[in-house]
Amino acid sequence: MANAVLILNGPNLNLLGTREPDIYGAETLADIEQACAAHADKLGLTADFRQSNNEGELVEWIQAARGTHAAIIINAGAYTHTSVAILDALLAVDLMVMEVHLSNIYQRDKFRHHSYISKAATGVICGLGSQGYQLALDALAARLGANN
Ligand code: DQA
Repeated sequence: MANAVLILNGPNLNLLGTREPDIYGAETLADIEQACAAHADKLGLTADFRQSNNEGELVEWIQAARGTHAAIIINAGAYTHTSVAILDALLAVDLMVMEVHLSNIYQRDKFRHHSYISKAATGVICGLGSQGYQLALDALAARLGANN
């Protein structure tokens, strides 16, 4: 539990690889999962990588993380910009949270400039593609190490 990181991916991220590759890149979610597992391993962490198109399922996974995971990395996809429920779940579990977006949401549509998730996040990484997940793992490793 001390080293387990829950990595959550929201709606439409299952389509990575074919979804707007000019914005999101050519890598699939399975590629990103594999890279996260390898990187987490190097850092002495384990990555529990999941995706759901369902807001309620994401809320339930966040709620269940208390006591089983040390921290959460979340790319909530479009729920970033709409979901008070996901924000409330993240605040309720009181785990360290890193928010990741593949694209630079501030270069895109105005409605993507606001994130409900950020209020619960220690750090936010956007615009660096899949590297953002690895940077989030690096940041967590440094911070969790400091707490152990
Ligand atoms: C995203 C950005 C969101 O605005 C969008 O709805 C997504 C993906 C990203 O990773 O860049 O689904 O979170």
